[in-house]
Amino acid sequence: MEDVQIIPIPKIEDYRGNIAVVENDVIPFSVKRVYYLFDVPSGSYRGGHAHKELKQFIIAISGSFDVVLKDYKNTVKRITLNNPAKGLLITPGVWRELENFSSGAVCLVIASDVYREEDYIRDFNEFLETGKF
Ligand code: TYD
Repeated sequence: MEDVQIIPIPKIEDYRGNIAVVENDVIPFSVKRVYYLFDVPSGSYRGGHAHKELKQFIIAISGSFDVVLKDYKNTVKRITLNNPAKGLLITPGVWRELENFSSGAVCLVIASDVYREEDYIRDFNEFLETGKF
């Protein structure tokens, strides 16, 4: 959980609007995949898993939502993302749940690898067990 952090995304501000750029050293991994959640119904829960190796950088491109993080000791941290110029770095071995999506929220995820179901831990008890080793 110590490596989980909010990282500011450099912005180019202009009276015509702003540009936020994720490039070079903004995030500590090379990008293999980008995906986004949109049209999330209110009251919906997403996530509910951890990753063995995947690193992710999550940005509320529009609207807001909460990310609930849990480590192997079941320490809980709730982070609200609502700023398109800030992202949340989630490292491997951290359980995450996404909830409280505002209407029109878009959650952009920049990931260190392609989709591999083998990298998921979807059972919370198995997740806690994994941490004992
Ligand atoms: P999942 O990662 O469980 O969604 P979330 O964490 O946002 O709740 O993925 C939901 C489904 O979509 C699951 O069947 C796997 C599939 N999926 C892909 O095929 N490729 C992907 O890149 C992602 C993120 C999910």
